[in-house]
Amino acid sequence: MVTPPEMWAVQYDSPAKYASDLRIGKVTTPTPAPGELLVRVTAAALNRADLLQRRGFYPPPTGASAILGLEVVGEVVQAAGAWQVGQRVMAVVTGGGYGEYACVPAKEAMPVPANLTDARAAAIPEAFLTAWLNLITLGELQAAESIFIHAGASGVGSAAIQLAHHWGATVYTAAGNAAKRELCRQLGADMVRDSRMPPHAVDVKNATAGRGVNMVLDMLGAPAWEDNCAMLAQGGRMLLLGFLAGSKGAIDLGPILTRSLTIKGTTLRRTPAAVKAALVATASAWLLPRFAQGVLLPVLDQTYSVKDVVAAHQRMESNANAGKIILTMEW
Ligand SMILES: NC(=O)c1ccc[n+]([C@@H]2O[C@H](COP(=O)([O-])OP(=O)(O)OC[C@H]3O[C@@H](n4cnc5c(N)ncnc54)[C@H](OP(=O)(O)O)[C@@H]3O)[C@@H](O)[C@H]2O)c1
Repeated sequence: MVTPPEMWAVQYDSPAKYASDLRIGKVTTPTPAPGELLVRVTAAALNRADLLQRRGFYPPPTGASAILGLEVVGEVVQAAGAWQVGQRVMAVVTGGGYGEYACVPAKEAMPVPANLTDARAAAIPEAFLTAWLNLITLGELQAAESIFIHAGASGVGSAAIQLAHHWGATVYTAAGNAAKRELCRQLGADMVRDSRMPPHAVDVKNATAGRGVNMVLDMLGAPAWEDNCAMLAQGGRMLLLGFLAGSKGAIDLGPILTRSLTIKGTTLRRTPAAVKAALVATASAWLLPRFAQGVLLPVLDQTYSVKDVVAAHQRMESNANAGKIILTMEW
């Protein structure tokens, strides 16, 4: 297939404070580097990072596409590595997901499970790879351990609950309304608190016979620090992956020393390519069969045509989504 020199993509003049500043226009079709696939994107998912990038707060890493979008599903139109033209793939990308075509490092692509539509598969890559990176690779979660996951109904939270539950851990979480809390229970959470009613530590300590949890997955940031430390057991691990409530504030470092806590932070987008390739290989070996068996569920909130990208951004900005917001690429 001959790829057109120009393609459709979501565009905006940076910084764009409002979702309504997004528009669709023509841009140059990207050229894959050696070792990269060119993928005709059929579905993409929104991420919080897209909102930040649109507003000028989260510039793409050097060399990444300036087009929004951190994950794609689509059809290989230019192959590399062991992939064939025509295969369905899904992947995280460092940018470019909101375009008609995107470049994907061959080693970071995963086959789409045959039982999943492209839209549903688009709910997998960023959420489940982020959950795996934090819980398993960095956090070394053990079966029979316990974890508290903030924002349990978020894209990442809904993946992390399922991963931790099927890994054998006890899962505590919080979410902002009754429907989100019910979703968290269905995904495997053992206790779900109202995220608008912190602190959570008292209930978590009660539920763990006073010991506290082995791990906290936090995307709230500084305002949650004290509560996180209070609910962590001796030797507990805190995995930081976002600052939805703010990154700055006065915090007490004391519990790190007195309770031997480990704090780790990461962003999947800035993870080196070789590390990401190893992550994809390890995580997909465990995750993909479980998607194929229906054990793990990509949690899809709402699907929008890319022509309605403004409404999709507005939904995420309002915190209404439970699971992932998907764009299907009908230009
Ligand atoms: N570091 C990484 O590699 C990485 C990768 C992916 C995502 N992330 C981060 O992970 C977080 C979740 O991302 P996502 O795309 O999964 O999010 P999402 O689906 O948009 O969900 C975010 C949810 O967080 C809750 N929330 C938002 N602001 C809050 C606040 N101030 N206090 C308490 N809760 C708040 C809301 O749920 P409730 O109404 O239920 O409270 C909201 O729906 C973001 O911070 C994102 O940047 C990091």
